Amino acid sequence: MELYFSGSQRAAIAGLFMVLLPVFLPNLFRPLGRASPSMFSEWNAPKPRHLDLLEGALIGQTSVRQQNKLWSPLPNQGWKPCAETTNVPSVPEKTRGYIQVFLDGGLNQQKMGICDAVAVAKILNATLVIPHLEVNPVWKDSSSFTEIFDVDHFIDVLRDEVSIVKELPSELSWSTREYYATGIRATRIKTAPVHASANWYLDNVLPILQSYGIAAIAPFSHRLTFDNVPTSIQRLRCKVNFHALAFVPHIRELGDALVNRLLNKNQVAYQLEERDRIGKGKARKFVVLHLRFDKDMAAHSACDFGGGKAEKLALAKYRQVLWQGRVLNSQFTDEKLRNQGRCPLTPEEIGLLLAALGFDNNTRLYLASHKVYGGEARISTLRQLFPLMEDKKSLSSVEERTKVEGKASLLAAVDYYVSMQSDIFISASPGNMHNALVGHRAYLNMKIIRPNMALLGQLFLNKSMEWSEFQRAVVEGHKSRQGQIRLRKEKQSIYTYPAPDCMCQP
Ligand SMILES: *[C@@H]1O[C@H](CO)[C@@H](O)[C@H](O)[C@H]1NC(C)=O
Ligand SMILES: *[C@@H]1O[C@H](CO)[C@@H](O)[C@H](O)[C@H]1NC(C)=O
Ligand SMILES: *[C@@H]1O[C@H](CO)[C@@H](O)[C@H](O)[C@H]1NC(C)=O
Repeated sequence: MELYFSGSQRAAIAGLFMVLLPVFLPNLFRPLGRASPSMFSEWNAPKPRHLDLLEGALIGQTSVRQQNKLWSPLPNQGWKPCAETTNVPSVPEKTRGYIQVFLDGGLNQQKMGICDAVAVAKILNATLVIPHLEVNPVWKDSSSFTEIFDVDHFIDVLRDEVSIVKELPSELSWSTREYYATGIRATRIKTAPVHASANWYLDNVLPILQSYGIAAIAPFSHRLTFDNVPTSIQRLRCKVNFHALAFVPHIRELGDALVNRLLNKNQVAYQLEERDRIGKGKARKFVVLHLRFDKDMAAHSACDFGGGKAEKLALAKYRQVLWQGRVLNSQFTDEKLRNQGRCPLTPEEIGLLLAALGFDNNTRLYLASHKVYGGEARISTLRQLFPLMEDKKSLSSVEERTKVEGKASLLAAVDYYVSMQSDIFISASPGNMHNALVGHRAYLNMKIIRPNMALLGQLFLNKSMEWSEFQRAVVEGHKSRQGQIRLRKEKQSIYTYPAPDCMCQP
């Protein structure tokens, strides 16, 4: 059954959501129940929408100079990590009590929560209990902290700064998630505001710690501000994020195996030829494309993705059932949305972007992706441009994936790990994974490409553009989007923009 709201109710709800919610957070709009299956078939294969450009891309050549420039590492930009140089590391002699957090979200949101939890424990001179990861209603992964992260490494790296325990001492073992789920409890802090200050914790959580020896904070996502926080705390957050959080060995081993196979596959066919053509070295390089193009995102954007009438109807219906008119974007035409860069790039469009930037059909491309709306049909143009495209499935056996299969967080961890090994990372979708990798690679001065969505939206709207012009505009429009350091501005996340808080200029 579907619920339809009256016009005025819908307007009121839409107004509320417009104020509260930024544009690209589809998961926030998840209702509790699932949508009933659509009555329209969506399996009309989406056709390529930019055939003229595709033709140009398939025969287009990139100069050796452009290729070398594309693949060359970022120059030294004068910034170095300085998370490790906290001046007076010291674990307080006497703990003020125990801090417990229960973390929502997918892998990357939980990671940020872990970093903030360590920071809050430090602010309070408390002992942190290894965070509990909630099962996310979308991703449904029940993996615990210990199943994702190397817990001993975590505790060890932070040993000098914060005391961390795997479990509560037995006299406090009553303080469980179930205990808090079943009643109002004095030791639960439920009211931490979004981006609370350090003083908020001192004023509101310290008294609880002093009375009970424990405080459980939930919800905790995004509950510590990025501004006006002491430098030592900022650096500690980065130290957790970039140094203390390492994936468990089996994730790293699988990731290493994938990278090795990606680089060695088809080696005989291409390597020698490539070496002659553009110099030694490129054959050992690869690019990661993070692509999140799922139904949620497609529907939420309210854009037209070329799947014809059936797709349009299916997405509109999905939108109606899930968000009941609360999706702001659906007020605009497709053209308007594209002009503003508010439509997720399709795999086809990303392929054209990559080709225009100078990636050719010898490029080793790893696709970091969960599920693509429209399936293989939607990816086929991308594959046509990049026949050496691989992903975790194509590079490993079912047996090798037994520990991670069906576990969204672990699969995301594998993709994250591979992404950090790549020479270039490009993300087609804004979101937590994108932000986490942009921040991590900035911290290590590693190349990324940030698609210029507004420019691309406009270029793709123009049906009379030739390949060479498209290519010139794309190259020009992405010159300053390849990992040049961007300093964090007020309210921005330290985990996306680690400079200047966690990076120093020697
Ligand atoms: C934590 O310890 C530091 C250093 O020992 C001290 O300056 C600070 O006041 C303490 N804060 C709390 C909340 O106990
Ligand atoms: C790559 O493109 C060139 C022409 O630009 C073609 O000759 C070659 O066969 C292609 N290689 C693959 C693997 O498709
Ligand atoms: C489309 O591209 C052509 C060729 O570059 C250009 O002359 C024309 O002005 C563009 N049209 C729009 C609407 O931007």
